[in-house]
Amino acid sequence: MSYYVRLMRQEDVSQIAVIDRDDFSTILPQTNYQREFKNPLAHYVVACDNEKVINGVEMTWKETGQSAGLISRLIFRNKVAPPSDRQYITGFAGFWIIAGETHIINFAVRRSYRRKGIGELLFISLIDLAKELKSLLITLEVRASNSAARNLYRKYGFNKTGLRRGYYSNDKEDGVIMTVENIESVSFQKHLNYLKQAHSQKWGTAIYHISR
Ligand SMILES: CC(C)(COP(=O)(O)OP(=O)(O)OC[C@H]1O[C@@H](n2cnc3c(N)ncnc32)[C@H](O)[C@@H]1OP(=O)(O)O)[C@@H](O)C(=O)NCCC(=O)NCCS
Repeated sequence: MSYYVRLMRQEDVSQIAVIDRDDFSTILPQTNYQREFKNPLAHYVVACDNEKVINGVEMTWKETGQSAGLISRLIFRNKVAPPSDRQYITGFAGFWIIAGETHIINFAVRRSYRRKGIGELLFISLIDLAKELKSLLITLEVRASNSAARNLYRKYGFNKTGLRRGYYSNDKEDGVIMTVENIESVSFQKHLNYLKQAHSQKWGTAIYHISR
């Protein structure tokens, strides 16, 4: 299998919403990706499966196991036209740039595509995009119990810089703040290049430039 990363397009909104609902359905208010697409502060990337396209709503429904009604409601709420053939999105990630700082706000890979290096591919792309946009500090919040995501962030040199007690409204779990102060520093870039190389060797087909 091979994947590539590109910037989010309007036609991606319905697939992204489905992936988001699968993971973050307890987080309210839910993200409106149609609005995010138009938000000048927001920057999103998606990972696409090179070998797969999807054909319309039913395919999305079958793939996710969600009800057709839910998909229709998502499409209706987001005012997205039912899609024709499109690239199959395996994961997505996005940030806002606020006062020059990058805040990663959404990041998820489809369950059946996890542990195949796609999360890392997306994460590398976000870091490169932030650098391109001249935003040197990257920060995010993660559930204290989310060891998969925390491991990934630690692997990329993010350190715990704060704790928001009871941050998540549904169950009052703590949010851990993780940050890298300067992605242009020599040490960070050296580490990043090492990880890119290792990722490329392990997964073979990764492409690191972001297609537009
Ligand atoms: C976090 C997430 C995006 C990782 O995506 P992924 O494609 O499975 O990740 P990768 O295969 O690229 O793994 C990269 C690294 O993440 C960490 N990791 C990923 N899954 C892990 C797991 N189940 N257990 C422990 N570490 C894990 C490891 O450090 C791994 O590096 P390694 O292969 O050298 O061990 C994915 O688990 C996900 O979508 N989770 C639900 C949504 C979420 O929690 N988002 C983050 C919100 S802050």
